[in-house]
Amino acid sequence: MSNYHIKHLEEYYQVYRKSVRNPEAFWEEIAEEHFLWRKKWDNVLSWDFKKPEIKWFEGAKLNITENCIDRHLATRGDKTAILFEPNDPNEEAQHITYKELYKRVNKLANVLKDNGIKKGDRVCIYLPMIPELAVSLLACARIGAIHSVVFAGFSSTALATRINDSDCKLVITSDGSYRGKKTIDLKGIVDEALDDCSGVNTVLVVNRINSEISMKEGRDQWLQPLLDKASESLTATVMDAEDPLFILYTSGSTGTPKGMVHTTGGYMVYSAYTFKNVFQYKEDDIYWCTADIGWITGHSYIVYGPLANGATTVMFEGVPSYPDYGRFWDIVEKHKITQFYTAPTAIRALAKEGVEHVEKHDLSSLKVLGTVGEPINEEAWHWYDDNIGKKNSPIVDTWWQTETGGIMITPIPFSTPTKPTYATLPFIGIQPALMDEKGKEIKGNQTDGRLCIKFPWPSIARTIWGNHQRYKDTYFSAYENMYFTGDGALRDEVGYYRITGRVDDVIIVSGHNLGTAPIEDAINEHPAVSESAIVGFPHDVKGNALYGYVILKETGESRNHDNLRKEINQIITEQIGPIAKLDKIQFTNGLPKTRSGKIMRRILRKIASKDTSNLGDTSTLLNPECVQDIMDNVL
Ligand code: WTA
Repeated sequence: MSNYHIKHLEEYYQVYRKSVRNPEAFWEEIAEEHFLWRKKWDNVLSWDFKKPEIKWFEGAKLNITENCIDRHLATRGDKTAILFEPNDPNEEAQHITYKELYKRVNKLANVLKDNGIKKGDRVCIYLPMIPELAVSLLACARIGAIHSVVFAGFSSTALATRINDSDCKLVITSDGSYRGKKTIDLKGIVDEALDDCSGVNTVLVVNRINSEISMKEGRDQWLQPLLDKASESLTATVMDAEDPLFILYTSGSTGTPKGMVHTTGGYMVYSAYTFKNVFQYKEDDIYWCTADIGWITGHSYIVYGPLANGATTVMFEGVPSYPDYGRFWDIVEKHKITQFYTAPTAIRALAKEGVEHVEKHDLSSLKVLGTVGEPINEEAWHWYDDNIGKKNSPIVDTWWQTETGGIMITPIPFSTPTKPTYATLPFIGIQPALMDEKGKEIKGNQTDGRLCIKFPWPSIARTIWGNHQRYKDTYFSAYENMYFTGDGALRDEVGYYRITGRVDDVIIVSGHNLGTAPIEDAINEHPAVSESAIVGFPHDVKGNALYGYVILKETGESRNHDNLRKEINQIITEQIGPIAKLDKIQFTNGLPKTRSGKIMRRILRKIASKDTSNLGDTSTLLNPECVQDIMDNVL
């Protein structure tokens, strides 16, 4: 038997060594023992980072939905696969069993087929967090159509760009969506986008909010009547392991979005194996990831990873602040959540509202807590540990990317001792390297550099849709024979990794590579500070100096700003050193963020440098209104 479920640190090291000594043999064993293949592979792995070309399980045949649904029917048919918690706490939660999921996926897959969708066609999914969203991904996968989910918070322009980039023929959307007290006119956004998308000939519309919308004759159809007529059975299309499963756009902070292409076999194996271990998933657990399926986290750790393990996965339609800031904890209590996976930005937002919202709820069902998406600052880590986990649930700080498909650096709970702000150790099979600016690997511990990966893992994205050259330039050209992550990291004395932020954001002061995260971390330690972002700006004398944008807590808003500036710099001096002191500190009410919660430092950098003639693409900003305010008050 392979080590599918790692239970202690010794075992982690033993399995890790095995996985890097002979990766092919290791992954072959995992793939063979834990998944359903129509035909086994001819070759486990072939790769060439120079081309770049990576193939896992070549020649194997499978359908991922048979792994996520069909094979559970005999043993877990009546188990809840998807537990849907609606926006309105008074609306009843839905328990969709594996048997029901099977029928719903087949019905939608049949509707797609009836509308001319074939293997390899691209389908755009623009839906809120309702069960139809997960069902749509699976229905596409069932017939071999390539899904491209666009987060339903994106604008019509962003949607149109993504639809056109991958030539989607069909769009699945809804009349609208609920978001706290508000409703959003999704279909209106789709209509606007489609004015610029001549390739889309069908729009299937889910009725979620019962609103009056306009339906374009010959193009738009309500989905429910079509489902009512569709058959509940359908033979899954047999796919090659290397056939594309989905495209997912990642915007990053600059440039046009990149359509990362993930293929079927390797992605399935890696997302399932990481899910099992990183969340120490057991049969009766109720697992909840608060991400939206519009992001990679939702693809891998709401849909594919959990379902491939026969898990119960929660989908939450609403927002953490509705009807009040205790909603997350209300849901944890109500459904007896065992694993809870969220983003640092959500933790900070909830911490700001105070612990009284937490204390009302019984969180004793929780066993493992997770974070993803950006570095978690020390204060937020402790708040999470103290108030949510009650120091009794290990926190897995999981580092990974849309491009990596699955979690890459992470503690394994109950095995790896955690350390605040550290993602800790590479996951099984992952071979990280830290590189210096000259392209040399930095060996040994207690060092920092640019984070690369030396060897392929099964769920690495295979290309950028329609632009293989850009894939090569972005990830495989900076360092020879390495995948470059774009992140900076440091490695401590025991080999734990701490991600320090995007390398583009790194600021060189006095020849030191300062990641943004450690400095922001220090600033956030100040009791009056809620959140901060730092950037570099040109300085006559020093060449480069640091500019800080700081959001104060309500309790700190009345403090003297000059005193606060001194205190903040004092903390930085103590924690990092005087080289990291900020030249300017601007207090602000908001920071420009992408819709996945990442600070857009590019904009802050331009403002600090007084170079605001062209701020670049701001269409993916969550809160564009704060930009003007920051510009008006620049120092
Ligand atoms: C950042 C999200 C620090 C990092 C799965 C990465 C993190 C980018 C962490 C990918 C973490 C993600 N600690 N930084 N635990 N997780 N990041 O594509 O900069 O939305 O490169 O994928 O987020 O973001 P993406």
